[in-house]
Amino acid sequence: MKKTQCLTVLGLLLGATGLYAQPKADAAKGKATFDQQCGLCHDALTTDKKMGPGLKGLYKRPKLSTTGKPTSDASVNEKIDVGGNGMPPMKDIVPAADRANLLAYLKTL
Ligand code: HEC
Repeated sequence: MKKTQCLTVLGLLLGATGLYAQPKADAAKGKATFDQQCGLCHDALTTDKKMGPGLKGLYKRPKLSTTGKPTSDASVNEKIDVGGNGMPPMKDIVPAADRANLLAYLKTL
């Protein structure tokens, strides 16, 4: 195997095991952010509607119910950034530093 191929395989393995995820997102910190910034309008434990839809199982759904886009970090981030239809834009309220933690928490729901 050529050296470049070796490195590619190594990279894939590291990527697959999550060792490349840096800095490590902290779902517990994300929960604190959620409780402060999102919990008023979103129930995390059910799909029942408060102001906005309950977010239980958000990442297990194939699509976002609001935008119809496939559920992904990009589409969830977009909703958080832009808001709309009763949700305030929260781009600056949950800055990049907290965002990874927040998404890590949402993935546990
Ligand atoms: C003031 C109330 C309010 C706050 C605060 C709020 N949201 Fe929302 N959110 C809504 C409403 C209302 C909707 C539905 C919007 C629509 O129909 O397009 C929504 C929609 C969403 C959706 C789309 C869900 C789906 O299935 O399509 C996500 C994801 C979401 N919010 C995440 C968050 C997160 C994360 C936070 C905290 C950073 C947050 N929201 C804060 C009211 C809020």
